[in-house]
Amino acid sequence: MNTPLTNLLQIPIPIIQAGMIWCSGWELAAAVSKAGGLGTLGSGSMYPEQLELHLKRLRSALMDEESDLSIPFAVNLPLLYPQVKDHLNLIETYRVPVVICSAGSASKYTTRLHDAGCKVLHVVSSTRFAVKAQEAGVDAVIAEGFEAGGHNGREETTTMCLIPAVRQAIDLPLVAAGGIGSGQAIAAALALGANGVQIGSRYAATTESSAHQSFKERITAAIEGDTRLTLKDLTPVRLLDNAFARQIHQAEREGASPQDLADLLGRGRAKKGMFEGDMEEGELEIGQVSSMIKQVLPAGPLTKALWEDCLKTLRNLSAFTDLT
Ligand SMILES: Cc1cc2nc3c(=O)[nH]c(=O)nc-3n(C[C@H](O)[C@H](O)[C@H](O)COP(=O)(O)O)c2cc1C
Repeated sequence: MNTPLTNLLQIPIPIIQAGMIWCSGWELAAAVSKAGGLGTLGSGSMYPEQLELHLKRLRSALMDEESDLSIPFAVNLPLLYPQVKDHLNLIETYRVPVVICSAGSASKYTTRLHDAGCKVLHVVSSTRFAVKAQEAGVDAVIAEGFEAGGHNGREETTTMCLIPAVRQAIDLPLVAAGGIGSGQAIAAALALGANGVQIGSRYAATTESSAHQSFKERITAAIEGDTRLTLKDLTPVRLLDNAFARQIHQAEREGASPQDLADLLGRGRAKKGMFEGDMEEGELEIGQVSSMIKQVLPAGPLTKALWEDCLKTLRNLSAFTDLT
C-alpha cells in the first residue's frame, strides 16, 4: 500500500502500535513490526540499561539476514522523562528508524533526531500543538483524542472532532489515536482525514504485551464508563476505576491542591498496577475502547485482522455510493 504515511515509515500497514509504559517492550514491538505495522518500544518506563537491552533484542528479532536491514520500528520518547538525554544517545547509537516524541515541545529535539537519520513523529492533543509540531519540522503528527488511554490533553477534544480539525490545519501525514480498536474505527479515522492510526489500549491486552496478566484480564472485563480522565489539574491521565482512582476522585472533589494530589499519587503507582498486578492500589492506564476488548490476542495476527477488517469496512461502505 502506497500512502504518505506508509512511504514515510516504510511499512505496508498504516497501523502504529503505541508506546506504552510497562506494556510495550521488544516482544510486542517485534510482533507488530513483523506483521507489517510499526512496533514501538515504550521507553518511558525504562532506565537506559533496560532500553539498551530492548533495543538489542528488538533489532536482532527484526534483522533480515539476507539484506542486513532491519524491519522498521519506533521508540516512544516522552520528553518529560528525566533521563531523556541518555535515551537520545541510545537512539543514535542503535540507529532507531522512527522516534515518536510525546509530552513536550516538538522544537526541542527534532533537529538532533533528524541529524541522526530518524523520522520524527510528534503526539499532540490539540490543533494548536499540531501546527507548532509542523513548524518545528516533524515528519508526521499523531493527534490523540480524549478517549485515549494514558496521559491526555486538558482540552478534552474527542478523536471525532480533533482529526478533521488537525487535517485542515496541517499538510503533514496525520495519524489518528484514541478510541481505535477495530477495523471499523480505523476506516472511520481514514474517513476523517487521517493517513493511519496509532493504537494503544487494544495492544496492551495482547499476548506479547509486558503488562501483568491481572491487568490484561481487567481490561477484557472493563465495561462502558469504567474509565475516567483523572488528575486534570496535575497531569491528566485516563484511568480504570479501582480503589486508587476512587481515592483520587474523592480528593479532587474535596478540592485537593496539585501538591496534595502529587503526594497521593506517590511514586511507582503505574508499575504497581500495570506491571506488578495490584488491581486496587495501582494506577491502571487504559482508554475508553477497553469496553470493546473482550480477548487477549496475539499482536501479529491482531494487526493483520484489524487491517483486513478496515479494508472490508471500506468496501462495504462503497455500497453507499452505488445507491446514488
Ligand atoms: C497503558 C498505556 C500506557 C501508555 N503510555 C504512554 C507512554 O509512555 N507514552 C506516550 O506517549 N503515550 C502513552 N500512552 C498513550 C498511547 O501511546 C496512545 O496514544 C493511546 O493509547 C491511544 O489511544 P487508545 O488507548 O484509545 O488506543 C499509553 C497508553 C496506555 C493505554
